[in-house]
Amino acid sequence: MAFVKVGSLSKLPAGSVVEALVGNGTYAVCNAGGEIHALDGICPHAGGPLGQGALHGTTLVCPWHAWEYDCRTGANEMDDGFMVAKVPVKIDGDDILIDVP
Ligand code: FES
Repeated sequence: MAFVKVGSLSKLPAGSVVEALVGNGTYAVCNAGGEIHALDGICPHAGGPLGQGALHGTTLVCPWHAWEYDCRTGANEMDDGFMVAKVPVKIDGDDILIDVP
């Protein structure tokens, strides 16, 4: 595990999400009202790119079929049997770092 820079706070305004590619991994990094959360970026439904979705409040919407996840927990909002793994986040000045395997 190692923290890796995946973006800048100044380029991730509140209400936005960005896709981050680190090694072979894809992650979704969200700014939910000033709280930064990172999740695995692959939707458990059919592999959609969550980092290319939309963020409404704390709800991350998959761009392929609009399944919704709580970016704070990774839980699917209709069926919490579908979980997206959370990834630890650290802020260092303007840098957003995530702890990748
Ligand atoms: S792949 Fe995400 S909702 Fe279908």
